[in-house]
Amino acid sequence: MKHTTPPALRFLEESLRDLESQSLLRKRPAPVSDGSLSFCSNDYLALASRPPPGRSSGSGASRLVAGERQEHVDLERAVAELVGLPEALVFSSGYAANVGVISALAAPGDILVSDALNHASIVDGARLSRAQTLVVPHRDVAAVADALKARGSRRAWVVTESYFSMDADVPDLRALRGICDEYGAALVVDEAHALGVLGPDGRGLCHEAGVIPDALVGTFGKAFGAAGAFVAGCPALAQWLWNRARTFVFSTGLSPAVAAAARAGVEASLKEPERRGRVLAAANQLRRGLTELGVSPRGIGPIVPWVIGDPAKAVRLAKGLREAGIDVAAIRPPSVPAGTARLRLTVTAAHGEADVARALGVFADVLGREPR
Ligand SMILES: Cc1ncc(COP(=O)(O)O)c(C=O)c1O
Repeated sequence: MKHTTPPALRFLEESLRDLESQSLLRKRPAPVSDGSLSFCSNDYLALASRPPPGRSSGSGASRLVAGERQEHVDLERAVAELVGLPEALVFSSGYAANVGVISALAAPGDILVSDALNHASIVDGARLSRAQTLVVPHRDVAAVADALKARGSRRAWVVTESYFSMDADVPDLRALRGICDEYGAALVVDEAHALGVLGPDGRGLCHEAGVIPDALVGTFGKAFGAAGAFVAGCPALAQWLWNRARTFVFSTGLSPAVAAAARAGVEASLKEPERRGRVLAAANQLRRGLTELGVSPRGIGPIVPWVIGDPAKAVRLAKGLREAGIDVAAIRPPSVPAGTARLRLTVTAAHGEADVARALGVFADVLGREPR
């Protein structure tokens, strides 16, 4: 078979060359190997490598048709209990959950106020909803209030992450809830990177702030070590999503094996709090060590962003680290704003003190080789 680019797709070759020349081309990495020490996994509680429970691999159909399984029901009950909300609905990924919930709720004529650093799945949900989207500066509560004040009688939605995945910082959820209540808007919070790790018993940052969002999104592919996601809220929300969230209605139900693994992950996060202790201790050690190296890591918790700026330098540093056996992701635009390319380090409960110390030694070496 010939592997030439068909004429109608030749323009891609030029676009790819263009990305390469700006150090923005992403290439398939080598499969994760056992020998290297990874600082770029979202498996915060180190639960992903546990063997899967012996359950059916597929659900065979959309949940609405013939794909409903007891594993979905049990998982939904467990996560609703985890976040302290009445009901939850399981989606096949966090991407699908955000696109599904936002496009099922917001409609043309509404306004949707979205933090500038919200995840791409929130951005895409907003686009699909065809609501008027107002992007406000990162964590700017006053800008949210101004947008809500100016909207007249239109229905309004405020969407934020609770623990921002690229900056490791946290919005003022209590203030956002207060503003939403004052101006009659709904609050949607994505807790993808917080659940399992942050807040009391890892129940998330809404729980910690005493905030009840109108919809809460969580994922199973990060701290809970499986895949899939959920949206939690009141019974009317769950029923509406069952009927109107297109990424739920028109998609095969989550694999029962994965649903069972996700529930085991949620249970482990509650029954094995020492995992949370280990990941947070590793994060503190890494932050302290980087600060001693003259790097100022941003934020709090298991995500430790080291902003470099220049994408070529971020790629060069990541390559040097990889060659020394330390796996680190260079994050470049469009995943982060232009000029803020970074190394996004993450720690997990599998990192011991010696692992973090070894990584810090390699960081010092690689930094020492950079031109001053
Ligand atoms: C904040 C946030 N929401 C949603 C998602 C999507 O989750 P998933 O990987 O399960 O599709 C991610 C994934 O990186 C995320 O960071």
